[in-house]
Amino acid sequence: MTTPRPLTAHQAAPLRGTITVPGDKSISHRALMLSALAIGQTHITGLLEGEDVLRTAAAMRALGATITRDFAGAWRVNGIGIGGLTEPDDVLDMGNSGTAARLLTGLLASHPIFSVLTGDASLRRRPMSRVIDPLSACGARFCARASGRLPLAITGPTYAMPLDYRLPMASAQVKSALLLAGLNARGSTRVEEPVATRDHTENMLRHFGAEVRVEPLGAGRVITLAGQPELIAADIAVPGDPSSAAFPLVAAILVEGSRITVQGVGLNPLRAGLFSVLLEMGAKLSVANERIEGGERLGDICAEAGKLKPIDTPPEITPSMIDEFPVLAVACAFATGTSRLRGLGELRVKESDRLAATAALLAANGVRTEIEGDDLIVHGSGGPPEGGGTVTTHMDHRLAMSALVLGSATREPVRVDDTGFIATSFPGFTELMTSLGCVFA
Ligand code: S3P
Repeated sequence: MTTPRPLTAHQAAPLRGTITVPGDKSISHRALMLSALAIGQTHITGLLEGEDVLRTAAAMRALGATITRDFAGAWRVNGIGIGGLTEPDDVLDMGNSGTAARLLTGLLASHPIFSVLTGDASLRRRPMSRVIDPLSACGARFCARASGRLPLAITGPTYAMPLDYRLPMASAQVKSALLLAGLNARGSTRVEEPVATRDHTENMLRHFGAEVRVEPLGAGRVITLAGQPELIAADIAVPGDPSSAAFPLVAAILVEGSRITVQGVGLNPLRAGLFSVLLEMGAKLSVANERIEGGERLGDICAEAGKLKPIDTPPEITPSMIDEFPVLAVACAFATGTSRLRGLGELRVKESDRLAATAALLAANGVRTEIEGDDLIVHGSGGPPEGGGTVTTHMDHRLAMSALVLGSATREPVRVDDTGFIATSFPGFTELMTSLGCVFA
């Protein structure tokens, strides 16, 4: 247990400045995992050096890859080739990271080695059966706590079978775990997703030379991967994380008189749902310098303070902004009426029960909210809510950052019980927000 780090957000001065945010967390995990399986040396720039990604780096080292940090964000990985993972001599601790744990479970499931995964109290509460069940079909044996919770022991088969699976939920982590397992299986692995989710794994597999076919299927997709490809080292520039950029951008929209730019933000359409929703709410957001780098779209986003209209978001858009609902709900609290955010069931199994915790975060600060089934209803007052509450973050980085954004624009300060977990995804958050005009004490 680390000592909790409480922090209070006071009303900010108008936010001003041009900033960059740390590298994309999803892409950073995948960059380390795939380069570790490639032949040759991959240079990664812009790698997120948050605790979650450092756990993946440590795990890939324990599995035999040589990983070197040259300077901030610049890393070199010497891969060991598909099938080349070696048995780790200790338990792999994935800390707070569901992505690291689930993707790695996929990789390990098709390698003939024994490994044990664990994590912190938050990760040990999260469901792993969503990957264990489909991965068992490749021949791996799993031994987990009740309801498929970590710690989890994995014994991979000598020869892994390819998988053919339709996901029962929209989850890029589950999809990616199956595709990563398919790398070391003979034959084609086929994954059907009911709704399209972030496709960084598919993009990066292609970047390293794998054969990946993606076909539309209703609102979803079918992804087919040819097994046992030879992945060839290929340099990666990681774009700024749109999920991190969301915090300063929403803060700028809410704090009167603000105008900021966040440069080099990833704009993959399967990640950028929040920006479309904010535009629909009337936010003053604009994108400049749109470009494609390393197969991913990015651009510079400018946000200005302004009034927001309420919004009704359909469930189909949820996967494209799955991590942004706490901060969107904060924005909805300032809108001129009632918003309904639909189809948020998956939020219940994030770093915390984010559906309940987001409603509680707002309620503690004078915002009326309701949960109806999987929908979150936020009654906006058309101006700054009262504030003055204390937010419980439940080991969840995004709740902590959302609460600090809220407190930057409420009438009374907002106190956050623990900001320590922000370092899992956004190291330097407090300093960066303070440099723009936020007042955290
Ligand atoms: C992620 C997928 C999402 C997201 C998580 C990162 C990924 O999780 O919430 O922060 O990198 O694949 P789910 O797949 O559980 O929706």
